Amino acid sequence: MNNMNAAVITGASSGFGKEFAKLLINDKSLDKIFVLSRNEEKLNNLKSEFGDKIQPYAVDLSDVENIKNFGKFLETQNVNIKILINNAGFAKFCSYEDISIDESLNMINLNISGVVAMGLVCLPFMEKGSHILNIASQAAFQPVPYQNIYSATKSFVKNYSQALNVELKEKGITVTAVCPGWMRTELYNRGCINTKKGTTKFVFMAEPDVVAKKALKDAYNGKDISVYGLYVNMCRILSKFLPEKLIMKIWLLQQGLK
Ligand SMILES: NC(=O)c1ccc[n+]([C@@H]2O[C@H](COP(=O)([O-])OP(=O)(O)OC[C@H]3O[C@@H](n4cnc5c(N)ncnc54)[C@H](OP(=O)(O)O)[C@@H]3O)[C@@H](O)[C@H]2O)c1
Repeated sequence: MNNMNAAVITGASSGFGKEFAKLLINDKSLDKIFVLSRNEEKLNNLKSEFGDKIQPYAVDLSDVENIKNFGKFLETQNVNIKILINNAGFAKFCSYEDISIDESLNMINLNISGVVAMGLVCLPFMEKGSHILNIASQAAFQPVPYQNIYSATKSFVKNYSQALNVELKEKGITVTAVCPGWMRTELYNRGCINTKKGTTKFVFMAEPDVVAKKALKDAYNGKDISVYGLYVNMCRILSKFLPEKLIMKIWLLQQGLK
């Protein structure tokens, strides 16, 4: 009999993931919140800040073997996972030729394989009423030049999550693809590298706490997609009607790129 209700949040050491941890700490139905990322010190700081409910697990999620080991760790924990937030991810805002093959593939490993593998290892510990939130992006709605891999990984996450949501209906587990526009986090310091051509204009920047709040509300309401704000909603709708070539042209114009 499982008796400990838990949340699992990846990429909880900063930004959007940390905001989810802050929100879930107040959820009295949860006994533990497993927070995962590479930086052990930041995870321990989270525990110092929010108390023993926070359970740090330092791990590189771009390596699927580490995720399988996390699955084995869960077997020892007697947990019922009420909520899994697959949030860890990174971007590089530059031309294809400005990042190495290794870094390109690492982005795919973390943003795609990491999301799939974490879901698969956590699902055996989930039951009716549990929720998965997979963090995609507004970039999921269209191909995006000069962040080509990042946007493609997020399209995968969006489509995968919506399809998995249908498959998991019979188990009473929901999957929500969260598609934020720009949010004020560390993503840019890490993603904007010295490049001649890259993303430099970040319009309608939102604070991650309000986006996280809406994402949780949408997940609890069983929505398969969560979109915050008028601008992102408008982009989503337009992406359904406008030809992709035109959308990419508008994007390049907005960024001052050719
Ligand atoms: N900020 C935005 O504008 C925006 C918009 C749309 C979607 N998103 C998505 O939101 C999610 C969170 O990003 P953020 O904006 O909060 O950026 P962030 O502040 O850079 O956070 C990224 C998190 O992922 C973790 N992470 C990175 N590589 C990892 C790895 N190999 N293994 C384990 N954890 C790893 C980082 O922790 P460590 O460094 O400690 O490992 C950090 O906790 C991402 O999926 C991102 O694509 C962000």
